[in-house]
Amino acid sequence: MPSLYIQTYGCQMNVYDSQRLADAMEHSHQMTQVSSPEDADLLVVNTCSIREKAQEKTFSEVGRWRRLKQKKPSTIIAVVGCVASQEGEAIIRRAPYVDIVLGPQTLHQLPRLYDQVKSTQKPCVDVSFPEIEKFDALPDRASDGPCALISVMEGCSKYCSYCIVPYTRGEEISRPFDDILVEASQLVDQGIKEITLLGQNVNDYRGLTPEGHEADLALLIHYLAAFDGLERIRFTTSHPTAFSDTLIDCYAEEPKLAAHLHLPVQSGSNKILSLMKRDYTVELFQEKIEKLKSKRPDISISSDFIVGFPGETEQDFQDTLSLVKSIYFDRSFSFIYSPRPGTPAANLFDPETLDSKKDKLKRLQDLLNHQSQTISRQMVGSIQQVLITQINENRPEEVIGRTENNRIINAIGDTSHIGQLHPMRIKTARPHSLEAEFCLDA
Ligand code: SAH
Ligand code: SF4
Ligand code: F3S
Repeated sequence: MPSLYIQTYGCQMNVYDSQRLADAMEHSHQMTQVSSPEDADLLVVNTCSIREKAQEKTFSEVGRWRRLKQKKPSTIIAVVGCVASQEGEAIIRRAPYVDIVLGPQTLHQLPRLYDQVKSTQKPCVDVSFPEIEKFDALPDRASDGPCALISVMEGCSKYCSYCIVPYTRGEEISRPFDDILVEASQLVDQGIKEITLLGQNVNDYRGLTPEGHEADLALLIHYLAAFDGLERIRFTTSHPTAFSDTLIDCYAEEPKLAAHLHLPVQSGSNKILSLMKRDYTVELFQEKIEKLKSKRPDISISSDFIVGFPGETEQDFQDTLSLVKSIYFDRSFSFIYSPRPGTPAANLFDPETLDSKKDKLKRLQDLLNHQSQTISRQMVGSIQQVLITQINENRPEEVIGRTENNRIINAIGDTSHIGQLHPMRIKTARPHSLEAEFCLDA
């Protein structure tokens, strides 16, 4: 049996694409996925270019694979995803032992190009953006565990001034409503209990219901919530501007929609938000969160932050810290600004030193960690709905699960608990997880 190794970097959309790619190679070439690159017949790196560091991982990975190819010259190396899209043929010039370069929208070509490269021994590059044929060309889904990802959109048309995504993934395009329902129903039939809807800006989702009505993300969630057997729905990522009242209402109307929202704010300073071209103000963001909290008081809110954006003063940064405290964000992601070639912000004058940016990042992360620890401690003694996902490999007498607010749970349990939602009592808060017990009286 030929074998395939995939190394995935970047966001959950890349995780989703890699899963579908593995399904496609299994379907076309009976390839089995292996967990180490040695001896694999096809090596794929699914890349991310959101920050310079992420991008550099591509070349160090394929650099390591070069030696594997020297030992076994029939090995095919493919670079796919966002760096592939951005760099195109330049990848083959820099690393001539790479055979295939495919952008995020042309991944479905891999089975055909694998055969082509094998017979012609010539490299192939396709980084075009052909509408949304990718999903039509991929085989049906195979599930693995009780949680699944479904991409509902590709690309992004927001063009935030610092961001590479609109250039690597193309303009925003929604998948047909029916296709998403079919994919979800296949997954639910296979026992999936939790679905996360994916896109760079999912609240701009637009489709047509089978009855011919225009559907937004809220309506899509209502349709999915009607599936018997599906217990939990999440979505990521959303943009504050398009975070609509219908979606806020959905939190009141759909108990299956998890009480957790990841809503990237990036900065707490209106001056910086405007330079970032985020097209909302801190006040508007706060207003939307207030409304949401009035509908779902138990909601946990996480976010993304960029520090050290060109022109960010200490006062702008203090405004970010104040916003973090006033919203009381839960576990969040924060990054030092990384200039991306071809984006408007890359031309801005940026006199701040890296040390000063690192210092800001540390102060922000300390505050966010403190808040998420406080939330974890406040959960001790409470009863949470937990989806048990697997046995703990290191401690076979334990199971692992997730709360609605995305915390990892460890508890004494066995395989009979897997794939179900259970009420559980939280016993102890650890830095990265919570210890819990099944609650028989709840
Ligand atoms: N579509 C989502 C997130 C996309 S990328 C949104 O708009 O919110 C994930 C995160 O990476 C962003 O939220 C941002 O915080 C960060 N990011 C994007 N470009 C960056 C850059 N050039 N430098 C540093 N962080 C960046
Ligand atoms: Fe990038 Fe902005 Fe689109 Fe998010 S919304 S992917 S940050 S351009
Ligand atoms: Fe990275 Fe592309 Fe996702 S740049 S964050 S893999 S959309």
